[in-house]
Amino acid sequence: MENIENLLEKAKEASKSSYSPYSNFPVGAAILYESGKVYLGCNVENASYGLSLCAERNAMSNAISDNEGSRIKAIAVYSPCQTLCMPCGACRQWISEFCIGDKETKIILENQDKKAIVLNLGDIFPFGFKLDTKNN
Ligand code: THU
Repeated sequence: MENIENLLEKAKEASKSSYSPYSNFPVGAAILYESGKVYLGCNVENASYGLSLCAERNAMSNAISDNEGSRIKAIAVYSPCQTLCMPCGACRQWISEFCIGDKETKIILENQDKKAIVLNLGDIFPFGFKLDTKNN
């Protein structure tokens, strides 16, 4: 059974795989799905800076590639730096695609100093874009 501490520990482990020679800002993400499975991701940078991939979206891609069909209960994001890694705008939109709901899906963040915060997705991504394909 996952709790906040376990999930953060997994995000910390994932951050060790980070490829971030340009920013020196490693990030690890661990995402808990309703199925009980946890998927990991790290950030992967590129010499062409704009092509860098965030840890959260890598973790979600891993889940989809594994055929994960359930929704995101919680996502832990860890960076071994002083700055808490707030999910970027693109990652927030991606999380909203696969979340249980604005008030149900938890965003858990921790930095190197063990400063941790827990937010609801709705706290950081109100009024996100949703496409209603039946009524457009
Ligand atoms: N980064 C993430 O991995 N997740 C985010 O939500 C924001 C930023 C990464 C991308 C880049 O490799 C580094 O942090 C610095 O921007």
